[in-house]
Amino acid sequence: MKSQHSYSESEKQAVYRVIKERRDMRHFTNEALEDGLLMRLLTVANQAPSVGLMQPWRFIRITDNTLRAAIKTLVETERNITADLLNQRKNDFLKLKVEGISECAELIVVALPEGREKHLFGRRTMPDMDLASVACAIQNMWLAARAEGIGLGWVSLFDPIELANLLNMPEDSRPIALLCIGHVEQFYEKPMLIEQNWAKAAEVESFLFENTWQEVETTL
Ligand SMILES: Cc1cc2nc3c(=O)[nH]c(=O)nc-3n(C[C@H](O)[C@H](O)[C@H](O)COP(=O)(O)O)c2cc1C
Repeated sequence: MKSQHSYSESEKQAVYRVIKERRDMRHFTNEALEDGLLMRLLTVANQAPSVGLMQPWRFIRITDNTLRAAIKTLVETERNITADLLNQRKNDFLKLKVEGISECAELIVVALPEGREKHLFGRRTMPDMDLASVACAIQNMWLAARAEGIGLGWVSLFDPIELANLLNMPEDSRPIALLCIGHVEQFYEKPMLIEQNWAKAAEVESFLFENTWQEVETTL
C-alpha cells in the first residue's frame, strides 16, 4: 500500500535523481559560490542524523591561500606514498585526478571533535558511530550541492596527524575529510573511477543476502 505520507511524484523523482546524479568531483572552474550557498550546505550537514544526537562534526573553512597550498602538499605526499604501495597499478593511479584543491571555490576540512569518549549513547560497543554520523552530514552536503549544480569532492588522501597539526586541532580530535566545493563545467556521467577504468561497480543484488552471510566476488 502506498504511504499517505509520501511526497508528490515530482518531488520524489527529484530526490531519486539527485541521489543518482551526485558525483565525486575533482574538476572545478574557479568561479566563486553565490552568497549564502556555503551556509546552506553547512546547514543541511548539521541536519544529518547523528549517534545520540551528538553532532560530532566540525567544519574549518580554509580561506588562507598559504594554508590551502600546505594542505595540497600533504595530499600530494600521501598520493605518492599510496602510488608506491600500489606496485603494478602505480602508473594508472598516478594518472587519476584525486583532488581539486587548487581550483575549487571553497575548501572545507571536516573533523571529529575532541572529548568524544563522553558520548556513550550508541557508541559504547561501536565508537566509530561518530565517524558514521559525520559521513551522513557530508552526504547531505553532497546531495544538496548537486541539486544546486555545484560539485563536491571528498578527499581523504592525507596524514590526519599532520593535517591536525596544521590546523591547531586538539589532541584527540581527528580530521576526516577535505571537501572541495565549487562550480564545474559539467558533472561526470558515471563515477570518474569507472570512466577512467580504475574500478567497476556492482548492482545491489550482489550485496543482498538472506538469513546468512554469503561471499561476494569483488573487483578489488
Ligand atoms: C569516505 C570517502 C573518501 C573518499 N576519498 C577520496 C579521495 O581521497 N580522492 C578521490 O579522488 N575520491 C575520493 N572519494 C570519492 C570516491 O572515489 C567516489 O565516491 C567513488 O569513486 C564513486 O564515485 P561517485 O561518488 O561519483 O559516485 C571518497 C569517497 C568517500 C565516500
